[in-house]
Amino acid sequence: MSTEWWRDAVIYQVYPRSFADSDGDGTGDLPGIRSRLPYLRDLGVDAVWLSPFYASPQADGGYDVSDYRAVDPRYGTLDDARALITSAHELGLKIIADIVPNHSSDQHVWFQQALAEGPDSPMRSRYHFLPGRGENGEEPPNDWDSIFGGPAWTRVPDDPEGRENAQWYLHLFAPEQPDFNWNSPEVHAEFLDILRFWLDLGIDGFRIDVAHGLVKAEGLPSIGHAEQLHLLGNDVMPFFDQDGVHEIYRTWRRVLADYPDRIFVAEAWTPTVARSANYVRPDELHQAFNFEYLDTAWDASALRKVIDSSLDAMRPVGAPATWVLSNHDVTRHATRFANPPGSGTQIRTPGDRELGLRRARAATLLMLALPGSAYVYQGEELGLPDVTDLPDEVRQDPSFHRASGQDGFRDGCRVPLPWTRSGSSYGFGDGGSWLPQPSSWGELSVEAQTGISGSTLELYRSALNIRREVPGLGAGDAVTWHDEAPAGVLWFERDGFACTVNTTKEPVRIAAPGRVLLSSSGTLPVTDGSADLPGDTTVWWEL
Ligand code: GLC
Repeated sequence: MSTEWWRDAVIYQVYPRSFADSDGDGTGDLPGIRSRLPYLRDLGVDAVWLSPFYASPQADGGYDVSDYRAVDPRYGTLDDARALITSAHELGLKIIADIVPNHSSDQHVWFQQALAEGPDSPMRSRYHFLPGRGENGEEPPNDWDSIFGGPAWTRVPDDPEGRENAQWYLHLFAPEQPDFNWNSPEVHAEFLDILRFWLDLGIDGFRIDVAHGLVKAEGLPSIGHAEQLHLLGNDVMPFFDQDGVHEIYRTWRRVLADYPDRIFVAEAWTPTVARSANYVRPDELHQAFNFEYLDTAWDASALRKVIDSSLDAMRPVGAPATWVLSNHDVTRHATRFANPPGSGTQIRTPGDRELGLRRARAATLLMLALPGSAYVYQGEELGLPDVTDLPDEVRQDPSFHRASGQDGFRDGCRVPLPWTRSGSSYGFGDGGSWLPQPSSWGELSVEAQTGISGSTLELYRSALNIRREVPGLGAGDAVTWHDEAPAGVLWFERDGFACTVNTTKEPVRIAAPGRVLLSSSGTLPVTDGSADLPGDTTVWWEL
């Protein structure tokens, strides 16, 4: 790793609710995560990003925070958080926490006070409270849609001033997630304090939730049309990617002057990777997720294009490119690649599982061969598919319910992990799991795959191990494309290393560039200097 550890770090995302359950209540927790840290160390990742574990009514799986300085009792205590950080550090792992500054829970004390004190309360200026339009204020203040479906405004049910003067409040997500008003100095001060609270506790960085959403266009102008935006959309909207957000992150970056080696990662949905680069200018954040990469089909020319545009966008600002294939908001890549291109990121059909897994493994080796930092989502190292057939009654994604079951299938990638072949929840815990696991998951468990040559888990372990050992992998800001790559094959070199990716279904013969380090599907015989690259396969070579 380079001295700036994050430049080439592989960061593993833990969704705390679904990783490991230490107390048998069916929900994962911090002691559960702590007990599995040696597994993550052995896997070979550098850092662990935890989705929110703060006090929360869980209206949106913890992205609705009611107390930013407390651990939710379902997940443990502050002491458990301290112990987790200490153990991680002892094992050489960094811990990144999620921070949710765009909105709080409606149960947050500020919001509760704002509701109770009525329209004239100064507490209301910490959120976006406005009178409605129409004669009796019966229409929302503007036409914005919530990203989870329905209007982005809810009228205060029992405003003390009486129904006629009842105000509306803004929530870009669920009604239980009121948006903070970042024009308020108290909001700024509060978040600076929260950052320091966790930094003092030893956290190594933050992933900033909805980093592009904090500042809204002046006057909150209406958009003028319906079908505005889905969670993963990227049109320009008056509530997203406004230039004002950058001043906030400059201030946040200055806090880190007191805390060396800590980082910020932006979850920023922007119209282009060039706009994403604005978030990682030298005086702002360290990394921004590359959702364009996540969204790219399994197609050589599309992949080459997005790799080039990502590297080109980051080079001028000196930030590492990042690469991600799965997270807690999108259908797992083993299932995305099992479905026809263009199926999107909220998929409810299993598709061709064998093909999906084969491509997922190839896609992972491609991702881990690119310069910069890569994100791995829990369970992808087991080749888990999305659970596409969860019964509607067990689904908890608020966007599923707000979109009347037509969207928001995020529960499918949040099903608790299988650790062992058998047991009430395949080793997740002793008391079942909050979402049902498919019966086939015992055979996908960590236990079933450990030590089995060719298993997806061993493929990840080998790849991460090689990534640490081969100097050509990891950091850097460029790849050299091989000009004579056959159609449908991506072929690039970096410092003593080559990566070849056959995105077609058929084998393709190539002149072997060196010694095979790793292949995503089986062994690869090289005869007389040539090799047949199997279909949907990535091979790493030492030159
Ligand atoms: C981010 C999170 C997502 C959450 C939303 C609202 O996009 O990744 O899970 O629902 O923000 O906080």
